[in-house]
Amino acid sequence: MGARIIGTGSAVPSTCLTNDDLAGRVDTNHKWIVTRTGIQERRVLRQDEGLLDLIHTASETALKAAGLSAQDLDVILVATVSGEYAFPSTACLLQTRLGVDNIPAFDVAAACAGFVYGMSVAHSYLKSGEYNRILLVGADALSSMVNWGDRTTCVLFGDGAGAVVLENQPNDQGLLSTVVESSGGLWQLLHVRSGLRQTFDQAGEQEPDWGIQMKGPELFKVAVRALSDVTRKALEKAGLTPEDIKLMVPHQANLRIIQAVADRLGASMDKVHCNVDRFGNTSAASIPIALDEAVREGKVQTDDIVVLNGCGGGLTWGASVARW
Ligand code: ACO
Repeated sequence: MGARIIGTGSAVPSTCLTNDDLAGRVDTNHKWIVTRTGIQERRVLRQDEGLLDLIHTASETALKAAGLSAQDLDVILVATVSGEYAFPSTACLLQTRLGVDNIPAFDVAAACAGFVYGMSVAHSYLKSGEYNRILLVGADALSSMVNWGDRTTCVLFGDGAGAVVLENQPNDQGLLSTVVESSGGLWQLLHVRSGLRQTFDQAGEQEPDWGIQMKGPELFKVAVRALSDVTRKALEKAGLTPEDIKLMVPHQANLRIIQAVADRLGASMDKVHCNVDRFGNTSAASIPIALDEAVREGKVQTDDIVVLNGCGGGLTWGASVARW
């Protein structure tokens, strides 16, 4: 048994914050942000908007692309660390929005690597033959957890949701391998206390330790090493090498991280789909948003080898390899 992505969808908030908008709030500038990160602008939720609306839209779009309805699903998975409630899970809230009942629905928490972790769960479920169709969403609103007075983090993140529908396949078309790894000893490189929530249009003065805490330069080095290593492992597990990659859709944290990983794998940047310039780092949402874009732009053709890889707080990282 195998597993294949048969539909994709995505949604982002309408509010766009440019680098110049941020330069009006903190001591930064467009040139610094673009040079160090590749980010030009990002989308953020306002206080009267909810992540669940984006998740619902992305899911309906993915189901439509797959030619299915929510009633056809066997499992709902949501990769997120920014659901509105500690419980119920965001997946359960999505389930009721979609009008389905009595199927498993749960969240996967692995920060920016959440979508690849979700792929690992979905892949195993489908391979086992126990389930036939799974909706997997990656969604986050880290803009509600950043300190809008901290220039080292507030320029990086944006909000959004992306979704895929996966279906059981009798042959080896589709997902070939998924490898996920964690290193809890590195948790202090990127962390945030639970329960914090304040959108950019509510934000007042905060204590310096409020919100996402990050050791950027150390994280950068670990991310490059971990992403290139885990991608090689996933390719090897699939009996492939980096030369076989037709398209890489990485987590969109920083253009320089993406370029360094591509370089280590010997893949040219024309084989990499990037949209970090327009959305910033949308955490668990970034891979499925970028994948949806690549699919709709016709960048993915049948039989292409597609690699999805990401790294995030935990630290966590992983890679999936698929024959499209
Ligand atoms: N505007 C202007 N100056 C800034 C800003 C800003 N927004 N932020 C930091 N600076 C200053 C620093 O204070 C420092 O000044 P100093 O030299 O006077 O001390 C200088 O710029 C250089 O700072 P560094 O942190 O060394 O800059 P670096 O080149 O490492 O870039 C960055 C920082 C972009 C955060 C980078 O380290 C990075 O991308 N790290 C990975 C972080 C990441 O991706 N996190 C997301 C989650 S994890 C993941 O998704 C992989």
